[in-house]
Amino acid sequence: MTNTRSLKFGAIIHGVGGSVTGWRHPEVLSDASVNFDFYKRQAQTAEEGKFDLLFIADGLYINEKSIPHFLNRFEPLTILSALAAVTSKIGLVGTLSTSYSEPFTVARQFASLDKISGGRAGWNVVTSPLEGTARNHNIRNHPAHADRYKIAEEHLEVVRGLWDSWEDDAFVRDKESGVFFDPEKLHRLDHKGEYFSVEGPLNIDRSPQGQPVVFQAGSSEDGKSLAARSADAVFTGHEHLEDAQAFYKDVKQRAAANGRQPQDVAILPGINPIVGRTREEAEARYEEIASLVTIEKALEYLGRFFDHHDFSQYPLDEAFPDLGDLGSNAFKSGTDKIKRDAKEQGLTLRQVALRSATPKTTFIGTAEDVADRIQEWFEAEGADGFIIHTDIPSGLRNFVDQVVPILQERGLYRLDYETDTLRGNLGVPIPENRYTSQRRGQSSTANSVESATAN
Ligand SMILES: Cc1cc2nc3c(=O)[nH]c(=O)nc-3n(C[C@H](O)[C@H](O)[C@H](O)COP(=O)(O)O)c2cc1C
Repeated sequence: MTNTRSLKFGAIIHGVGGSVTGWRHPEVLSDASVNFDFYKRQAQTAEEGKFDLLFIADGLYINEKSIPHFLNRFEPLTILSALAAVTSKIGLVGTLSTSYSEPFTVARQFASLDKISGGRAGWNVVTSPLEGTARNHNIRNHPAHADRYKIAEEHLEVVRGLWDSWEDDAFVRDKESGVFFDPEKLHRLDHKGEYFSVEGPLNIDRSPQGQPVVFQAGSSEDGKSLAARSADAVFTGHEHLEDAQAFYKDVKQRAAANGRQPQDVAILPGINPIVGRTREEAEARYEEIASLVTIEKALEYLGRFFDHHDFSQYPLDEAFPDLGDLGSNAFKSGTDKIKRDAKEQGLTLRQVALRSATPKTTFIGTAEDVADRIQEWFEAEGADGFIIHTDIPSGLRNFVDQVVPILQERGLYRLDYETDTLRGNLGVPIPENRYTSQRRGQSSTANSVESATAN
């Protein structure tokens, strides 16, 4: 594994956008969330920009108050499999919840995507924040926040175990002798735990990456611990560099405490860069999107973080209401921050709702301004790279055409892909099959990135 840091980029493809009213912008295709050509174009633009990965977020519960993109969108693994066929280098990371899925199915789906894409698959592990999700999955009660993370831990352990069902050279496929596989290299998991009971083996063998890359999104104490123990990369969100630095240091220290190399966990905050030919033009782009948001929609947007709490019942221009524990079983890290900021900064409900629905990015200005800010966060160890989301499709195009070349000139970002796999490009080691390691009497630690590039 190389010690020279270089920037990593992911692109969230988010259909009509992550905001409440962005779909009304003239440039946004109003059916973008279910329009394959749109996904294909954005994916190919990101690949032109040598991005490490595409990122598909997801949710499993909607109601009338959900944002437009959530109401009608592609299932992540399905769209990523289609995008695998129209791209060749970029990683394909999809969100799948450990609270509402079976490890056997998850292991199988991501292993398949990894093989279909030639080693470009990644799984974004989430725990699902919304209570209503239980009602869609034949589960009586949505598990509590702490339990969701315990489930996630065991789920991930099972999936990883299943991914090692077959040793790398298990399939002999010798037509002459009639030997299809070597039974000594096939392993049943026989997992019996608190939440899952899975015999195995998995009915698909190891992929070019050994195992798909594991992302984690969730920034609470439990979320950080899970990431530090088990994730190859973390998707997070921070408004200010100081918060990003504190998060970065915390997760890297936790990783080291778990016997891992700090550089084996990439920290990737999500940002929404707005690039203009001038600073005024960039500001005008922001205003154009922000002006589409009504206070009613902003209240609904804010409400979702608190499990679709109805904020229209409170006075708009008085202090943000005291909500007690509300939100702690939903987007905990996010709702804790909203409550803390409102109190510390003496904000009204109207201010909190508008800030949340139309956050003003600090990654705004000319291409040089945005490149400077990225460089600052990267060099100050607030981030190893960024997950880019843009409200309008030209936002990604502008970033690739205008910001990427500056970062390349500054020697901060690749001129071309280093390898064909997501692990290779991220510089994340290939985990050796545990049974092969055991056989050789070695611990199941990872190989160096040099072996990743050999694939
Ligand atoms: C940056 C970020 C991205 C997330 N993306 C998703 C997602 O796509 N789907 C989902 O169900 N939850 C997503 N979550 C929610 C988390 O999985 C988790 O359920 C929630 O944030 C509560 O955990 P936490 O308190 O550890 O953050 C995301 C959270 C963060 C911080």
